[in-house]
Amino acid sequence: MRKVGIIGVGEYLPKKILTNADLEKMVDTSDEWITSRTGIKQRRLVAKNEATSDLAIKAARHALEDAQLNPKNIELIIVATITPDMAFPSVASLLQNALSAKKAVCLDICAACAGFVYAITVAQQFIARGIHKNALVVGAEVLSSITDWKDRNTCVLFGDGAGAAVLSEVKSGGILSTYLGSDGSKADLLMIPGGGSRNPATYRTIDSRMHYIKMQGNELFKLAVTIMTEAAQIALKQAGLQCKDLDLVIPHQANKRIIMAMAKKLGLPKEKIYLNIEKYGNMSSASTATALCEAVKEGRIKKGDIVLLDAFGAGLVWGACVIKW
Ligand code: ACO
Repeated sequence: MRKVGIIGVGEYLPKKILTNADLEKMVDTSDEWITSRTGIKQRRLVAKNEATSDLAIKAARHALEDAQLNPKNIELIIVATITPDMAFPSVASLLQNALSAKKAVCLDICAACAGFVYAITVAQQFIARGIHKNALVVGAEVLSSITDWKDRNTCVLFGDGAGAAVLSEVKSGGILSTYLGSDGSKADLLMIPGGGSRNPATYRTIDSRMHYIKMQGNELFKLAVTIMTEAAQIALKQAGLQCKDLDLVIPHQANKRIIMAMAKKLGLPKEKIYLNIEKYGNMSSASTATALCEAVKEGRIKKGDIVLLDAFGAGLVWGACVIKW
């Protein structure tokens, strides 16, 4: 098996900013409630003509530049998203065309907020087994397109953005362990009931707002803390490491209170936790992807550091990944 590492990272956030003060004018909420209950101060929103692939392309270009890899040499493109431009073709196919990455095999992964960790894990398998030399992995979302802007329980949480990573064979370090899990029995806690083959779009599904995110936040909160803690412990054990060996944790950014409760359970000081939720809210698969990119660019991750990615989302699905940078 070959060693696989991340050799480049990139991100793209749309320009438009929606603050908590803006939301106060849209629904019955307050900056105080949103900040204290979630840690979010603002989020980014796409322009009218921007779709998920537009964000993915920009993030991917930055990651490829960072990796100094010509797109024509990419052999695999995986996009993690729950908000593709359309049901098909995949965002990965649109990305391939935009980048002229003609050699690449393309697929999307639907694993909600754990999508980026799932995509890294899948890409790693192909490279480790020598099937592909490298892979472009992207987490990209336009969650504003599936957010019910009349529902204060959910609309304060989500934002749009994209992050990307280039994976390749490395001589030392790289991905030390990956762990994925799922529990379909709790699928009803977070879903979009309309628009698929179960409830195709009709006037009725639109009138009953079935094309927006429906979430039982309270229940998910408790599960997220327990499951992300366990996922971290399992991935660390598989890597032969302990919490004290970690230099930085890149958690999924659903709620600052979830992240801090997990950190407490793991006995990790807040300095070892990377947060960007205040600026962007929850961007599903794009959250861990942009957080990783920003942590690298800000110098929070240095060569030789041990980094943990840890995410949880709709499905339910979860995943953790230990990387020696
Ligand atoms: N402004 C003001 N009040 C609000 C708002 C708001 N925006 N939203 C809810 N409230 C009210 C509720 O109506 C409720 O009022 P009540 O007590 O009178 O009924 C009160 O605040 C408390 O509501 P809770 O739901 O108990 O609030 P909680 O502290 O649990 O926070 C939240 C809600 C932020 C959604 C939290 O539960 C959470 O973060 N859950 C986890 C989300 C998650 O991890 N999702 C999975 C990943 S996302 C993905 O996969 C796409």
